[in-house]
This record gives sequence, structure tokens and C-alpha cells, in this order.
Amino acid sequence: METINQKTALVTGADRGLGLSVAKGLLKEGWRVFAGKYLADYSLLEDLAAEEKSLSILPLDVSDPESVRAAAERIARDAGKLDLLVSNAALMGGNARCAVGGDAPVDTDALLLSFRTNSLAAPILTDRLLPLLEKGEMKRLFFTSSEISSVRLQRRTGDVRYAMSKTALNLGVRLLFNSLRPRGYTFRLYQPGWMKRVNPDGSRVAGAQIDPDESAEEALRLIREDRIDEDRLVLTDYLGHELSF
Ligand SMILES: NC(=O)c1ccc[n+]([C@@H]2O[C@H](COP(=O)([O-])OP(=O)(O)OC[C@H]3O[C@@H](n4cnc5c(N)ncnc54)[C@H](OP(=O)(O)O)[C@@H]3O)[C@@H](O)[C@H]2O)c1
Repeated sequence: METINQKTALVTGADRGLGLSVAKGLLKEGWRVFAGKYLADYSLLEDLAAEEKSLSILPLDVSDPESVRAAAERIARDAGKLDLLVSNAALMGGNARCAVGGDAPVDTDALLLSFRTNSLAAPILTDRLLPLLEKGEMKRLFFTSSEISSVRLQRRTGDVRYAMSKTALNLGVRLLFNSLRPRGYTFRLYQPGWMKRVNPDGSRVAGAQIDPDESAEEALRLIREDRIDEDRLVLTDYLGHELSF
């Protein structure tokens, strides 16, 4: 049930994986959560909404400015403020060909969609939500990045879209930090680890390093706790280690 002064968050890409785990954790900690839902294939959010009155499911395609505008309008109408943005949605790859020098030309539509989703959504969302974030008390901006974003550590060959788009995300976050840190905003840039994929029934695909629920615990700590060095933008991982980016 909504209460006066309840802290309010938007979590994008929340219908499975890390976003869903973070949304669940915030709800447990008493937050009001707007959870971004993209495709209809997953009903895990609907299952959660049946028992969590502080959860609102928000149709949201972060690559579509009109969808972002509609989501901001809905939050304004229903909550009137936002304390936290968890910008987490991403396209991890797929079957399209985006390797330079591969056996087919680069699929430019797939490449552009990755940038719209993984890189450009972060500043666009922040900009559109700023009037609501200004009314919130916490002013915390959380972005899910990846160790793959590091130019210095990059050793991959082949498909350019995921790594390039996460590097561009980091630069976008740096520029947001330069503009908004002086206005009182605090930033979290997070590498969640190689996570187990979540099936539509909530079970996990075997393999990978860490369960999204475990990675979400560190994300929630970063959200909950203030840092002594908020004037430094750092990329940290699920173990709390600082990474080069
Ligand atoms: N998985 C890993 O090993 C790993 C490693 C490093 C970093 N990361 C990062 O961690 C974050 C979460 O990863 P995950 O493993 O939880 O990924 P995931 O299971 O693939 O979830 C990604 C989420 O983003 C949503 N999404 C995709 N395109 C969208 C769009 N245009 N608008 C709104 N939502 C959209 C997906 O919606 P649908 O479910 O409807 O498709 C899904 O809810 C991502 O930023 C990812 O890049 C993941």
C-alpha cells in the first residue's frame, strides 16, 4: 500500500533478470516501484504484482522516446516524484550480424537499435525524468553497465554492438555526472557479473557465474548506502571491486 513519503523508483528492463531482482528487493525494503515491462513473453512481474501493492507495471520501450514520454507522464500522475532511476534495460546481442569483416554486411538496424537501447536511453530517460527526480529526495541514478565496456581491457573480436554500446553508455553517464553531480545527484555505475539467464517460469539457465538475485543484493547495497567519495564516478562490480572503464 502506498504511504506518505514512500520512496519511489523506476526500474527499466524489470520483467526478468537483474531488473526483476532489483525491483523485488526494493519492494522488500518498502519502496514504491514502477517496473518497466518490454515484451509480453514474461509474466513474472504480473505474479509479483498480485502480492505487492506498491508495484506498478509500466509498459516501457526505452529505445522509443514516445514510450519514455508516456512512462514519465504516468509516474508524474501516479506518484508525482521519483527518488531513484535504475536504468538497466539492455539488448544483449542476438542473431543479427554486426561483425565488421564477417560473412555478411553489418546489420545497421540491429546496430542502431543496440545504441538506442543500451546507450542513448540513459541520457534520454534521465532528461525526461528530471522534473520528477527534482521533486524526489534521494536523487540517485543507477546504471547497469558491464566489464565489457572498458576500452582498456577490451580484447574481443567480432560483433561490435554490445561492447561499443556499453562503452558509449559509460561516456553518457560521465557526461550526466559532470552536469548533475553539482546539482546534488549521486551516481552508481554497476557491473553485475556474468549472470544466469532467467526462463519465463522463473527458473535459471545453467552455467554463468552468479544468480541475478545475488547480484541484486550488491546493487541494492549501492542504492541504499551513501559513499564517502560521491564526487568520484566509479564502475564497481558485484563483489564491490572498482573496475577500469
Ligand atoms: N547477463 C549478464 O551476464 C550481464 C553481464 C554484464 C552486464 N549485464 C547487464 O545487466 C543488465 C541486465 O541484464 P540481464 O541479464 O538481467 O538481462 P536480460 O535478462 O536480457 O534482461 C534485460 C531486460 O531488458 C529488457 N529490454 C530489452 N530491450 C528493451 C527495451 N528496448 N526497452 C525496455 N526494456 C528492454 C528485457 O525485456 P524482455 O524480457 O521483455 O526482452 C529484459 O527485461 C543489462 O544492462 C545487461 O547489459 C548483464
